[in-house]
Amino acid sequence: MASRGGFSSKIGFIAAAAGSAVGLGNIWQFPYVAGENGGAAFLLIYVAWIFLIGLPIMVGEVAVGRNTGANPFGAYKKLGGKKWAWVGFFGILCGVMILSFYNVVAGWAFGYFVQLSFGDLLQQKELSNYFYNYTADFSDNLIYSLVFMVLTGFIVYRGVQKGIEGTSKVLMPTLFIILILIIIYGLNLPNAADGVAFYLVPDFSLINGATIYSALGQAFFSLSLGMGALITYGSYISKEDNIVNSATWVTISDTLVAFLAGLMIFPLVFSQGQSPSEGPGLVFIALVGIFQNMPPLLGKLVGCSFFLLLCFAALTSTISLLEVPVAFLVDQKKWSRKKSVIVMSAIIFALGLPSMLSYGASDLFSNFAYYEGTSKTFMDVVQDLFFVVSLPLGGFLLSIFIARHWKAKSLSEEISQGYASYKGSVIEKYFNLMITMVCPVVLGFMFILTVLQKFFGVSIF
Ligand code: PHE
Repeated sequence: MASRGGFSSKIGFIAAAAGSAVGLGNIWQFPYVAGENGGAAFLLIYVAWIFLIGLPIMVGEVAVGRNTGANPFGAYKKLGGKKWAWVGFFGILCGVMILSFYNVVAGWAFGYFVQLSFGDLLQQKELSNYFYNYTADFSDNLIYSLVFMVLTGFIVYRGVQKGIEGTSKVLMPTLFIILILIIIYGLNLPNAADGVAFYLVPDFSLINGATIYSALGQAFFSLSLGMGALITYGSYISKEDNIVNSATWVTISDTLVAFLAGLMIFPLVFSQGQSPSEGPGLVFIALVGIFQNMPPLLGKLVGCSFFLLLCFAALTSTISLLEVPVAFLVDQKKWSRKKSVIVMSAIIFALGLPSMLSYGASDLFSNFAYYEGTSKTFMDVVQDLFFVVSLPLGGFLLSIFIARHWKAKSLSEEISQGYASYKGSVIEKYFNLMITMVCPVVLGFMFILTVLQKFFGVSIF
């Protein structure tokens, strides 16, 4: 264990895992996906997925990680042999692809921070145009995401305790405070109540198949599930830690931040008369508008702090994404941490180039269609393939693996270390039922429906 590194304490794990979970998925993506899918109705379904399916899968992942002390490939291999190892490998591949586009969006946030601090962003009139011109500028994308990748690589290179844990412990609480401050400000603006109503009063007629699939994919993405990030982080925790308790804390903090991000954005959007279904530009456009309305110095201060924190939230997630393939190379290939970080960062950065070009810089990557009538960017395609479809699939495979191969008994055995009263408790029965029965059935079914809808345009309901 000593050479792989590990978290120093239970809080260290919670901070790092919550740092992985809380990121662009909560602050950038959740509000715009909720905005496009009916607001409150989406929120309800999302929360149901999180607690019914997400939490049990998280407990399963962390338990497998701690039991094996290995990266996802090594973990599946150790417990299930060669046949199962490819499931772990597939998860690592998803992580690599997710990081390739995630790093580009993190670069936008970083670029906005720089433009707010040193540029003329606060003087811009057409914020929507600004966002689209900005993301279409290849050289800006290239520079900012390169800086972000280097920063991520540097922290991962420093290792689990100094790099990952230390960074997360400071940044997470700060983020929370700034969110609350912007919410209080936003709720006092004219028409804020319309935004709150859109977000909190559900209109069930807006729920359809797409709402349900997007909410599931979003739940997995936001909790960092289905690709082995939590197997990897689980491999760094001690046998004294209570896995159920830690996973519950991580799930609650992640959901709370996504919820608060929505509560921050929708009043701002409605008070400025914007549309909640603006898409990926939502947070960038709505927030800058609000910073412009504040007294200049205050606007600059709040604006800079917000985008800086968005970068930090993204950073604690990018490090967890990079840690997965790096742990794989260190464990399986016996590479040094340094070499693994450099090689992996370079590959992932290169894989992100088409995503950088997919917001207008190149026509080919900006219009990538699957089936008639739908035009998708390259980045959309990567998201559909590697998270909307694959993360719930990864959860499905994990639950099948536990149910059929590792067995509920071994799972209970692992969880009961650090949680003495677990065995025989109602909680044990609940998790066993969810992981070995409900998750395989529900996630298997959802996988088929999502593939039909995403790639063949067929909606069953
Ligand atoms: N959970 C992160 C977010 O919400 C993204 C992520 C996905 C991180 C998968 C690790 C693994 O931004």
